[in-house]
Amino acid sequence: MKNKFTLIKLMVFVSIIFVSFSCDNEETNVNIDKDLYSMAKSTSGFSWYKNSDEYLERSDSSGHSQPFLRTRYNSIAASMFDANGKILENSTFPDGSLIVKELVDANFELELYAILYKKYDNKYTDLRGWVWGYIDADGEVIVSASEKGSGCSYCHLQSEHIDYTLMNKYFP
Ligand code: HEC
Repeated sequence: MKNKFTLIKLMVFVSIIFVSFSCDNEETNVNIDKDLYSMAKSTSGFSWYKNSDEYLERSDSSGHSQPFLRTRYNSIAASMFDANGKILENSTFPDGSLIVKELVDANFELELYAILYKKYDNKYTDLRGWVWGYIDADGEVIVSASEKGSGCSYCHLQSEHIDYTLMNKYFP
């Protein structure tokens, strides 16, 4: 009888711990995606790939279905630019780097942000320190950063990637 009572108490205790942990995770997930969205939305202080904000036709290998794109880099990420605004070979982007690819439809209306954010001490970084975000223009999360780029990195890790990035390879 005593044992049974202890077991019930233990089960209640475990459920409370479990519930409070899952709430905590949900809360943090919301925040990381929200943070990425507001960082991606603000456009000041960025530099464009090859110093141009012209839209580019997406490459054949793009994992993103929109027809046009353009990519910008915050000042920390842009420290890896060469004189032409391409990424220096063998670069490793420093902590705080933010890369935002804007994906637009055939009328150049913004549909999606694909985001790479280098933050080594973030809970959701992958093995190389990147947080991966995929959020539509209205802030709806398409792929949460809590998935740690599991649907993205296999493709971004192909030959000739530079620290996971592919613009140089497809837009030389
Ligand atoms: C099937 C391959 C593939 C998958 C999957 C993929 N990408 Fe990409 N990504 C590309 C290619 C190719 C480029 C180069 C530009 C282009 O053609 O779209 C690119 C470019 C980017 C860039 C611009 C920086 C750069 O130079 O790479 C970001 C940011 C990005 N992708 C984020 C993501 C995120 C986030 C996901 C997952 C939600 C993802 N990608 C999934 C192929 C892929």
